[in-house]
Amino acid sequence: MTQHRFGGHWTEAKLSVLGHYLGAFSTALKGKGFQLRYIDAFAGSGKFVPIRGDGRERLGSAQIALTVSGFHRYHFIEMKPRRCKALRQLAEMQPHKGIEVHEGDANQHLAEICRSTGWRGTRAVLFLDPYGMQVEWQTLEAVASTGAIDVWYLFPLSGVTRQLALNQDKLDDDKRRSLDRVLGTRTWREAFYAEEPTGDLFGAAPAVERHADSLAIETWVTARLRTLFPLVEGPLVLRLGRHGKLDSGPPLFGLYFLAANKSPAAQRAARSIATDIMGRLKKQAGIR
Ligand SMILES: C[S@@+](CC[C@H](N)C(=O)[O-])C[C@H]1O[C@@H](n2cnc3c(N)ncnc32)[C@H](O)[C@@H]1O
Repeated sequence: MTQHRFGGHWTEAKLSVLGHYLGAFSTALKGKGFQLRYIDAFAGSGKFVPIRGDGRERLGSAQIALTVSGFHRYHFIEMKPRRCKALRQLAEMQPHKGIEVHEGDANQHLAEICRSTGWRGTRAVLFLDPYGMQVEWQTLEAVASTGAIDVWYLFPLSGVTRQLALNQDKLDDDKRRSLDRVLGTRTWREAFYAEEPTGDLFGAAPAVERHADSLAIETWVTARLRTLFPLVEGPLVLRLGRHGKLDSGPPLFGLYFLAANKSPAAQRAARSIATDIMGRLKKQAGIR
């Protein structure tokens, strides 16, 4: 099979956060009587080779999750048939693990998993690791409504910023629609853009320009996620730094931790684990 090549130094950072969280989550919920699930909505093939690096194959999120004990079921969602085939081979090699491979769009399969699961006795960790702007706000609504899923969401800060053209005239309908889908509202238009006085004596319409920079966009996205999830931590901003550095360069992704559970005790436990893991990675990688 051809190798799945993607990512860079930020890929290892997000996967390290995921691996540590899964271990701590399964330990914290051990013996509490819940069925534990791991949902990988953009599962890949289980392995990857970073675009920059030594060319060696690494374990992807699906295989990392399989190394963590304590989970009773795994949902691997993936669009590409070739990658699904590799995931099914993983499932065949470990039939006792309860692995289900869902071929197709993450939004559709996630909505179905959220709808068809009895969440009272189930807790899950969901990894949202898209290349770009594939996660729809409606999907986040379905996830939040379960009250039982902890999420690591690699939010596409650079993808969204790129779509938000500096001049509003340059925002075509496709861009507007994809921003509406990801952000779940049309209010970003007023939040990010304002009329610029032209000083034109002949009555030309004033230009509508984006005043929000990437930090303002990130802050707005964080507030928006807080309207849906009772607990939002992060983002850990992963940047396209030179020489493998995560602390400089333009922001690529914001890694958020979101918890759907409304119980204060569950939130305290999840917050403590998630912030500890993010804090350690920040220190190690010198991330702000
Ligand atoms: C960044 S990669 C995920 C890598 C994976 N988490 C890992 O660690 O190996 C994104 C994956 O999402 C898949 N994908 C893209 N759009 C999708 C969609 N709408 N639904 C499901 N999968 C999708 C791509 O084929 C790709 O394998």
